[in-house]
Amino acid sequence: MLGKFITFEGIDGSGKSTQIKMLQKEFERNGIVYKSFREPGGTDLSEKIRKILLDKNNIKLTSPSECLLFAAARAQLTKEQIRPAINRGEFVICDRFVDSTIAYQGYGRGLDLKYLYKINSFATDSLNPDITFILDLDSKNARGRLSENVLDRMEVSGTDFFDRIRFGYKKIMEKNPERCIEINANRSKEDIFKDIKKIINKKIIKEIQCN
Ligand code: ADP
Ligand code: TYD
Repeated sequence: MLGKFITFEGIDGSGKSTQIKMLQKEFERNGIVYKSFREPGGTDLSEKIRKILLDKNNIKLTSPSECLLFAAARAQLTKEQIRPAINRGEFVICDRFVDSTIAYQGYGRGLDLKYLYKINSFATDSLNPDITFILDLDSKNARGRLSENVLDRMEVSGTDFFDRIRFGYKKIMEKNPERCIEINANRSKEDIFKDIKKIINKKIIKEIQCN
């Protein structure tokens, strides 16, 4: 049986990495075999691309180049790691996937969504997550959680950029109600995780047990 693909989305500082760490511990407690990746990254090549994308000195990077570099990193990660793990029947957790490009490069930078969908379906061989948690938090609160002195090339953008991205995630949510779940991220880490755990048990673990 194929494994399940779980992604986490949301603006920078919304708490994705924190929830992923809690989910990893939960899977380990229950003996569930999983792989966990962050985007961009997860393969040697994708980590190299990550450095280019997050380097604050690369101010000349155009939005189309940015989008293609994210897609290249994603293509490599999908082929080398995500697909093989799913085919082995493992759970895959990913900190960001195609929805990030739609939200950031589409709604944030204003690139044409039609191209972004095509490029990314080519890059991933049309792989879609089984479930996507969208952690929803306003940009000021999210920025307040990040330390100002270590902001990367994306994070130095103003709050209006992140407001557009948050709006983009709302649209992604509306378009994909079968796999997307919006989570109010303006709560304690524990309360947020309680919801995530409940949904995974209901939507994924039960489904596997029934098959
Ligand atoms: P992301 O991966 O979405 O950028 P992180 O999980 O790294 O976000 O969280 C960003 C910062 O906010 C970290 O310092 C983390 O400890 C803190 N944080 C995460 N979740 C919460 C929460 N629910 N309430 C308050 N602070 C949080
Ligand atoms: P990262 O430090 O991993 O941020 P976070 O912990 O919030 O996920 O940096 C990744 C940055 O790249 C983040 O600002 C979101 C951005 N990004 C895009 O703009 N498009 C994409 O397709 C992806 C995967 C990330």
